[in-house]
Amino acid sequence: MYSERVLSGMRPTGALHLGHYHGVLKNWIRLQSEYPCFFFVADWHALTTHYESPEVIQNSVWEMVIDWLAAGVDPTQSTLFIQSKVPEHAELFLLLSMGTPLGWLERVPTYKDQIEKLREKDLQTYGFLGYPLLQAADILIYRAQHVPVGEDQIPHVEMTREVARRFNYLYGREAGFEEKAIEAAKKLGGKRTKLYLEARIAFQERGDEEALEQAQAILHEAQSLSMGDRERLFGYLEGARKIILLEPQALLTQASKMPGLDGQKMSKSYGNTISLREDAQSISKKIKTMPTDPARVRRTDVGDPKNCPVWELHVVYSDQTTQDWVRQGCTTAGIGCLECKEPLIQSILKEQQPMLERAQKYLDDPSLLRALIADGCDKARKTAQETMRDVREAMGLDYS
Ligand code: TRP
Ligand code: SF4
Repeated sequence: MYSERVLSGMRPTGALHLGHYHGVLKNWIRLQSEYPCFFFVADWHALTTHYESPEVIQNSVWEMVIDWLAAGVDPTQSTLFIQSKVPEHAELFLLLSMGTPLGWLERVPTYKDQIEKLREKDLQTYGFLGYPLLQAADILIYRAQHVPVGEDQIPHVEMTREVARRFNYLYGREAGFEEKAIEAAKKLGGKRTKLYLEARIAFQERGDEEALEQAQAILHEAQSLSMGDRERLFGYLEGARKIILLEPQALLTQASKMPGLDGQKMSKSYGNTISLREDAQSISKKIKTMPTDPARVRRTDVGDPKNCPVWELHVVYSDQTTQDWVRQGCTTAGIGCLECKEPLIQSILKEQQPMLERAQKYLDDPSLLRALIADGCDKARKTAQETMRDVREAMGLDYS
């Protein structure tokens, strides 16, 4: 099958925490059994903000991959790799940069936001402005259909779609396109040729989206088509251009509500995190010193879970029975806050146990980790090279 690929990346800028686990990694783990997935370490993206301290990145790359594996990302199902080991990303980024209007980049909301937010850093750089275009290259080079991201990244995926559309418009022209497309349609074979051509008309004349999807499904299933014919047929459905780069869809991760130790969202910049592989002592201490409902000054004062960050964690970690016990105990001063925190500590440690076990294998033998990433980089590179061949050809850069 013409696989519906999933692609996502993460910047290596420090140890991952429970917010990453509940907000992102659990989602990746679900997806890896449904689609061919490509997950990569976005080390070049990290450099856009950490160009003055590259050692932060260097130290985080392998640790982050171990965190992924610890969380349950399965290297036999997903392709794991490092961005800078697939230099084709840079080539596509460069080629796309030629025709990308500056305004598209300046208008991306994260651009001004981040410059404001990270005031201590000088982000008035060419590389930082180009961040979303590099991300577009990451996505387009794998012809990924689905890009699992958080809400803040939606504009980047949106811009990626525009970049792909513009590329296909500029470079998808081909002499005798229609004749070639019809020839290609015939290769689908009898009934499918007819269905494809009818669906195309239904879409172009009546805007029938369902027909469009049906025709696309026929193409997805057609195994014997060459890449060129496939691009023609996808393009012919919607217009008169080859589709060389595929428009991806954002796969919105359910907004991570993972609360941190202080009731705000768990985030490194708030200093309210628990790392994925943090040691038990430290986790226990962090929970025990968490602030609680300020109304409970003395053990005998009643409280209200609604005013307590500890409760937020119970919502994530505790079953109904425990939650009832907390609500009852808190509002009647039947339990103390330390008592209330105990099952939470236990649940977090229990969740962590299999992660520590999975990580240990790679900590004991780092060569396993190196080998699995080398393997992933090879695989990613093959796919990226295929796309680059088509891109160069479309742009007329395939001189020989
Ligand atoms: N910008 C993303 C983030 O900060 C990381 C990223 C880089 C990415 N390239 C990507 C995510 C491609 C998805 C697809 O989270
Ligand atoms: Fe918070 Fe639990 Fe203390 Fe109530 S008993 S204030 S929910 S820690």
